[in-house]
Parts: sequence; structure tokens; C-alpha cells
Amino acid sequence: MTRERFVDANWIVPTVPELKVVERSGRWLCLNPEVPAWIFTGKPGALLLQKADGKRSIREYHDEMVSNAVEVSLPKLTEFFQSAVDKKLFEKPEREGSLVSWKDRKLSALYLHITNRCNLQCSYCYRESSSHLAVLHDPGKLCGLLEYVKPFTAPGMEVSFSGGEPLMHPGFQEIAATSSRLEYTNRLLTNGTLITDEMADFIAAHFRSVKISLDGPNDEIHSRTRGRGNFARAVRSVERLAERGVKVSVQVTLTKSALPHANEVKGALPALPNVAVRFTPLLPMGRGTGMESEYIDNDEFYNFASGQGSGTRYTRGQCNRSCHAGMGSLSIAENGDVYPCHLFHAREFHFGNIFHDPFEEIFFGAKVKAFARSMDVEQNNPICRDCELRFLCAGGCHANTLHATGDHHGVDTFCSYQKRIIYDTLFASSSPTPSHPLKQP
Ligand SMILES: C[S@@+](CC[C@H](N)C(=O)[O-])C[C@H]1O[C@@H](n2cnc3c(N)ncnc32)[C@H](O)[C@@H]1O
Ligand code: SF4
Ligand code: SF4
Repeated sequence: MTRERFVDANWIVPTVPELKVVERSGRWLCLNPEVPAWIFTGKPGALLLQKADGKRSIREYHDEMVSNAVEVSLPKLTEFFQSAVDKKLFEKPEREGSLVSWKDRKLSALYLHITNRCNLQCSYCYRESSSHLAVLHDPGKLCGLLEYVKPFTAPGMEVSFSGGEPLMHPGFQEIAATSSRLEYTNRLLTNGTLITDEMADFIAAHFRSVKISLDGPNDEIHSRTRGRGNFARAVRSVERLAERGVKVSVQVTLTKSALPHANEVKGALPALPNVAVRFTPLLPMGRGTGMESEYIDNDEFYNFASGQGSGTRYTRGQCNRSCHAGMGSLSIAENGDVYPCHLFHAREFHFGNIFHDPFEEIFFGAKVKAFARSMDVEQNNPICRDCELRFLCAGGCHANTLHATGDHHGVDTFCSYQKRIIYDTLFASSSPTPSHPLKQP
């Protein structure tokens, strides 16, 4: 741990204006939302921090504790505050947002929908993809697009190949090979029905990771949303890729009817360390609109996910202000239309067309800037702005809000899930009960 400031017994303990204290099983989480930073302590430690008024020294607090018969030595108390300082609890964050560096920013993630054509026709598909749709652009045009945006990209920009089914584009390999030649980091989203051994070799050579959609642990459940016979193909694709060392994430779209079986998905997959399972709830978008009986709510999602962890590692002092849509990431539709995110393909968020408008004007334009500002957790809505978890949560997913209410401002429909998962993750990141009431685990 780097020590930026030493404290001694005469150190004046600063106040933490927004201090949030949460107790679970005798462990007290003390959170400074503004940094964000947190420590775990015992009850006396939490009470001390709540009392701190920015006027008294450690020695004065020690005198008070001794007179109240609290057993703690002055060096122990000093050590406690030193540790809180080391964990950034008293830091004063700079209040400038990330939009300051607007013109200097680079594109770090691109969702590239190379076609909206698909060999499946899933019941809930937000892109409303099907085999009736034509492939719009030849590979040369899409390779040209990747070359064209290069000066605006951060090193190793992530390119997520999506669709439709990206493997339905006859030029898939040419486009992906161009992308890797340009030193982008390729990621693939696929339904996993078209991956032969040869295709798996190609993917292993050109892609950093692959997401394969699987909606249940067997064909009976998977076929309810994705059509008969596709389950075995998808599982075989997971095997083919995983055997070649590809990092595979199996993507489960959670519906109410599949929820009781979702935990069985892992058992249907090869038990390899490079195979993970991720769950996201069904959203009311595209063909998924109006499927009320299949949407899961906050409690259902939380009860399902609480044992699994969020998979997020929070870093003290790292202030997450938004999901980066429009800021560092964009989505390009199969016809070249540019949007902030793959879940924001709607007229009001249309920033231009990559084949018709100069990218510089799109990327640095007023429309994108206004959108990025509207996504900032302190600008988006008053509830998130005042939430103690705002710089950990970053406001959640505003596509959820958009598709549930028609307006992307407002609180993520999965807010209460988010809150519980973030607290769970913070508590899980520390060791159990401190041996000394002031000690931080
Ligand atoms: C649009 S698909 C494109 C890639 C590929 N065809 C596939 O199915 O994986 C990308 C992901 O979006 C998910 N998806 C589609 N419609 C959805 C909806 N309405 N709500 C939530 N996820 C959805 C799919 O299950 C898939 O995991
Ligand atoms: S979710 Fe994927 S596989 Fe299903 S119809 Fe949409 S694009 Fe095709
Ligand atoms: S979505 Fe909920 S948890 Fe996240 S910042 Fe907003 S209010 Fe806080």
C-alpha cells in the first residue's frame, strides 16, 4: 500500500460529509461516496468516523474513549486512522468531470453490427433479426470503415462483432482479419450455430473472447426462445472454442420461465477454466417488447444472482461516472448508422452515418457531447446524483430505463438489484469479523 500521508496523534480527523455506514454481521462498512472509498471496521470505529467534526485530534478522541472506558491504546487508534487515510477515506476528489478532455478522448470500444441477417429468429430479439434480411455491405466497405476510424481509436480498441448473426456475413473472416491487422481487440457475439472446426480455428486466431448465447440448460428450454435443435450446436461451439483456448462467455438471457433452470446451464458446459456463464435479464426491446409474463424483476434477479457475485472489482478512488456510451464507445448498425450503444439504436440517438458523414464531426459533435453529458451519473437524474453508490454504480444501464419508460433519464429499472449487488461485492471483498473492534479487515 502506498502511503501518501503519515498521521500522528496530533492529526486532526477530517469529517466525511456524506459518510454512509452499513452494518452486516458485526462488520461496519464506512463509505465515502465522493471518492469513492471505503473501510471496514468495528462499531467503535464507525461511531468515531460519524462523530468526526474536523476539529479534534486523534489524541482528543483517545482521551474521550478512555474516559468512556473504551479500551484502545493511542498507537492502535493512530494506526486505525492511518489505515483509513491509506484507503483514501478522507480524500477530497476533484470535482471536474471527464467531459473536460472531450477533444482528447479516443474511441475505446466499438459495437460493429456487420449484418442484421440471422439464421435464427429468436422470440425476444431486440434487433428483430431474421433470415429475410439482406446483407447490406460487402466486406471491402466494412474493412474500409475499420481503417477509416483508426486515427480516432485508443490502442487496442475493442471491436465487438455483432448482428444479427455476424457469421452470416459472407465476408466475416475478411473483416475480422482486417480488424486484427489493425491491432484492434476482437470480440464476437454469436448464437453458436455456425462454428465448424475450421471456423473455430479462425476465431481462435483472431478473437480475444467470444460470447455464445444459451437460454437454458437443454434444448427444451433453449428452443422456447431460439428454435429447436440449436442447443447442441451452441454447446458444441463452446467446446470447440474452449478446447482451442478461446475465452468463452456463455450469455444467458434470463426469462421468467427459464429462471428456475438457469443455474443448471453451467452443468451443461465443458468444465474448463476459460468457460464462464453470464446472465442478463430480458429487456422490453424489439421483439422482446410486450413479453410481460417473461420479464424478471429486481427481487427475482437478485435472489438468483446474489450467490454468484457481480464479477466487478471496485477500486478505491476510481470514480465511474457513466457506462461510457457516447464517451468512449459507439455502436454502428449494419447500414452505417452511428448510435451511442447497441441498446440505443433509436432515431433520437442517431449521431450520423459512418458512410456519409465525416467521423470527426460525428465523434466530436454536439449531439454526442450532449448525450454523454446526459449519461453522467451526476447529470442524469436527482436520485442517482444523490445516491451513495453513484461513483461505483455509474448510474447503471440507462437502456433499461429507456426501454421501460421511453426516456433514458431516470433510475435504472434494476437499481435495487444493483444496490444490493454492489454492497454484497464490497462486503465480500473484505475478510470476516475484525479481531479488534477498531481493526480493519
Ligand atoms: C442481438 S444478439 C446478436 C449476436 C448473436 N446473434 C446472438 O444471439 O448471440 C446479442 C445478444 O443480445 C441478446 N438479446 C437479444 N434480444 C434481447 C432482449 N430483448 N433482451 C435482452 N437480451 C437480448 C441475445 O440473447 C444475445 O445474447
Ligand atoms: S438474438 Fe441473435 S440469434 Fe437470436 S434472432 Fe437476434 S440476432 Fe439472431
Ligand atoms: S441506479 Fe440506483 S444504485 Fe445506481 S447510482 Fe442510480 S440510484 Fe444509485
